Amino acid sequence: MKTHIEPFKIKTVEHIYITTQEEREAALKEAFYNPFALRSDKITIDLLTDSGTTAMSSKQWAALMDGDEAYAGSVSYYKFEEAVKKITGFKHIIPTHQGRAAEKVLFSVVAKEGKVIPNNTHFDTTRGNLEFIGANPVDLPTDIGVQPEVIADFKGNMDIEKLEAAIKKYGAENIPIGMITITNNSGGGQPVSMANIRETKEVLSKYGIPLYLDCCRFAENAYFIKTREKGYENKSILEICREMFSYADGATMSAKKDGMSNTGGFIGTNSDQVAEKCRTNLIVMEGFVTYGGLARRDLEALAIGFEEVVDENYLRYRVNQSKELADTITAAGVPIVMPAGAHAIYIDAKRFAPHIKPEHFPGQSIACEIYRISGVRTTEIGSLMFGKKDKDGNHIAPNMELVRLAIPRRVYTKSHMEYIAEAVIEVYKNREKLRPMRLTWEAEYLRHFTCRCEYI
Ligand code: F0G
Repeated sequence: MKTHIEPFKIKTVEHIYITTQEEREAALKEAFYNPFALRSDKITIDLLTDSGTTAMSSKQWAALMDGDEAYAGSVSYYKFEEAVKKITGFKHIIPTHQGRAAEKVLFSVVAKEGKVIPNNTHFDTTRGNLEFIGANPVDLPTDIGVQPEVIADFKGNMDIEKLEAAIKKYGAENIPIGMITITNNSGGGQPVSMANIRETKEVLSKYGIPLYLDCCRFAENAYFIKTREKGYENKSILEICREMFSYADGATMSAKKDGMSNTGGFIGTNSDQVAEKCRTNLIVMEGFVTYGGLARRDLEALAIGFEEVVDENYLRYRVNQSKELADTITAAGVPIVMPAGAHAIYIDAKRFAPHIKPEHFPGQSIACEIYRISGVRTTEIGSLMFGKKDKDGNHIAPNMELVRLAIPRRVYTKSHMEYIAEAVIEVYKNREKLRPMRLTWEAEYLRHFTCRCEYI
């Protein structure tokens, strides 16, 4: 059969809010033209994030009832630990309430002021956590990784030559760990090949630097390896995961993504010393070592989520759902980061609205307009999220200006996807009417979450 179907049926339904254009215009104004500030009852389809927005399975909901809420030594923790070990093979698994907490606890142990952490591309929370303690996050994507129109299999790869050069420039003694983000979220949701993970490990090993994976979307990355990298077509997703993690000394994960649950995360490590220090800091920052800030029932849902996410039928559906949306909008001319990733489609705002300069936030203007006409919420990943200012106050733009349409797992049906496509295509047809924007207020860190904007 050619038709891709959702590999699940619906047992419980959730009301969707249908609004008028007038209501949405008022809501946008009230939110200071920042979609993060919109109330969710003013949103029809929410593509702000794929994080924590997963629809849990009936098995996961049933497992919640089994949660053993013991403060210490909860049986639920051991189920969670076993599920994560089965996939990652790491010696120590330390639960946290979400990904950034795992980062904060790990960096409190391995990073310090002045230290340098290379990554294919840091997600904004790893960057934020490192900058917060005065460390220096360095992004080393490949050249094709930052060219939206180039079609290639593994555009999320780390640039190996740039990595070697960075180690020579900063000195191995100043690089406590190297990281790879799979899939590369800020770089367009692009996967990293097995060969690249292996080579990164080889280079880091030469200098005695451990490798940690930021592995939020490890199963999606594994599916791309299976379908795109020679030699992996007959391996199971679990086998591919085991091999990916075998090259790493540890990982941080936001389990709100491929943990198939609404909250959770972990630190994995093979180092006894790092684990011991992380556990000590965890107790201060998150909670006791067998719950790390989570309700124990969450650990039950996660244990099952980790089993469900490595199901190839699920991953095939997941990747095709995004691909079909990408195919529909690109057929109408909409420029996107090619090829489509699994968790999101990224509109290339530079080519979509070339009349708006990066410092006037073309992505934000597109995101606001998509919401205004349809109630579909998307998010800017460009100058608003990553832009900086030089000494003279001039705007320093990031490599790409994107709008992300993140697809929650198992939530939206084919007709929802058609509605999204129609909205994007409509805005594209009227793109010359998109207006430049400016900031009226911004916070010191991660400004995109809370900033206020207006049209110029
Ligand atoms: N690393 C990556 C690659 C991420 O995508 C995220 C979260 C985190 C770390 C932090 O995890 O949210 O659980 O604290 N990404 C979400 C997103 C927020 O929308 O892409 P968290």
